[in-house]
Amino acid sequence: MALLWFLVLVVNGLARYAQLQLTNVIGQRLMFNLRNAIFAHWQRMGVAFFDRTAVGELVSLISNDVDAINQVFTGGLILGVGNVVSAVFIIVFLLLINWSLALLVLGMAVVMLVAATLITRQMRQAQRWTRSRLGSINGFIQEAVSGVTTIQLFNADRRIRDDFDVVNQEYSRANLHSATLFSIFLPLMNWLGAATAGLLLWFGGGHVIHHLLTLGTLVLFIQFAERLTTPVRDLADKLAIFQTAVASAERIFALLDRAATDADGATTSVIQPGVLSFDHVWFAYQGEDWVLRDVSFEVAPGEKVAIVGATGAGKSSLISVLIRFYDIQKGTIRLGGEDIRALDRREIRRRIGVVFQDPFIFTGTVGHNISLGESMTSDRVEQAAAAVYADSFIRRLRGGYDYVLHERGSDISTGQKQLLSFARAFAFEPDILLVLDEATASVDPETERIIQASLLKLVAGRTSIIIAHRLSTIEHADRIIVLHKGQVVETGTHSELLARQGVYSRLYELQYKDRLAAP
Ligand code: CTP
Ligand code: MG
Repeated sequence: MALLWFLVLVVNGLARYAQLQLTNVIGQRLMFNLRNAIFAHWQRMGVAFFDRTAVGELVSLISNDVDAINQVFTGGLILGVGNVVSAVFIIVFLLLINWSLALLVLGMAVVMLVAATLITRQMRQAQRWTRSRLGSINGFIQEAVSGVTTIQLFNADRRIRDDFDVVNQEYSRANLHSATLFSIFLPLMNWLGAATAGLLLWFGGGHVIHHLLTLGTLVLFIQFAERLTTPVRDLADKLAIFQTAVASAERIFALLDRAATDADGATTSVIQPGVLSFDHVWFAYQGEDWVLRDVSFEVAPGEKVAIVGATGAGKSSLISVLIRFYDIQKGTIRLGGEDIRALDRREIRRRIGVVFQDPFIFTGTVGHNISLGESMTSDRVEQAAAAVYADSFIRRLRGGYDYVLHERGSDISTGQKQLLSFARAFAFEPDILLVLDEATASVDPETERIIQASLLKLVAGRTSIIIAHRLSTIEHADRIIVLHKGQVVETGTHSELLARQGVYSRLYELQYKDRLAAP
């Protein structure tokens, strides 16, 4: 018997190990898949989605919320299934021995379950709250780190600390609320367990006195009732973990269920080169706050068009709708005769090269920042850089093209960032159109000269639209389109427009005249 007992213990240990390991593996795989799914879905969301979602929300979704789901595994909800099985066995056993006392025990178990369900429902609500506060904290931190220079420059560190105090307090309060519910939960369960034993003593004791029940049976009942309430309490405990997971799952699936922007059925994947036309285009980021109003113009193949206008006139927005970061509300944009809403976004972005006002630099080598991981030979990367005169500054970096740039390109200058983004656009060889949103930041005359030369190389032989902030850029354009408060008010060449004495000539007087043209 002793040997058998020993054997049972060994088998039990091994089985337990296998069980734990299995749940761990399942949990980890699930988290792995979930993180991948979330990340992949984000990549398919449009720019508008990111405009309205805080980074912290996204960070806490992919880390904390996914972890919370894993708790179901490590916290042993699966193991809890064993509890249900043993509870059923105990109840059947008790019913066979004495059904009236068994019903009493069963009744109390039901009361416990109901109480547990009610409280855990509250807990779920509290967990939702906690999760969203955690998202706020993450978002706050992200912003405070990104904006550290501005914060320190304006001595805002104290104020920002106070602001952090507020979000932090809200998070604490949310956590405390959860903890309070939990503190009510456990004693209540204990009390109900004790009450069950008390009721058994009361009724069972009476039966024993009247010789309707043996003392042995009563003791057996009290012990088994205890063994029944333990799994029930345990189960309720697991339910609390489960509720947290459900709150997180709700958040995750709210995201995954959002239709991806690229799922709009636009599939035409070959764009014929040809005229680009804006035909009575109206666009608003929100509601009826029109940013583009009835914009119409055409750009013929090979033409170089400059777009000028005051700050906020809608110039950058014009590009955003052209490459379908956003879809317009009224009118049509056609590329080679085809409505761009029917064109696959990937194809549009492959064929149209865009350089933005504030280029983004990724953590990684200079070479990687040009190729963005696309398979291209290092020759092509270097040729692209050389073509736009970025080569000389890159070679001066330690390690040249292998020099590792830091987050957001904090270790190179604004002008250098621009040259890098030119090289990037050049390396991708856009064949239909090149769009360039000229940076507003001023650079020294020497860099300015290099950037201008670089820009000319970039647009050479290409249809191009340049949003111009520099007089020298405008002078190289075949035609100028003047955008004013979202409307095209004038078009023509530099001299034609000057002669009209309209918006352009005013802009010219105010903005361009004093600026040095490239020699
Ligand atoms: N806008 C917006 N939501 C965005 C981007 C811009 O509501 N995600 C609004 C701005 O408030 C602005 C208008 O759109 O009033 C036009 O912005 P934009 O096209 O960026 O102006 P630009 O002409 O490019 O101005 P700048 O010369 O300063 O680059
Ligand atoms: Mg702009």
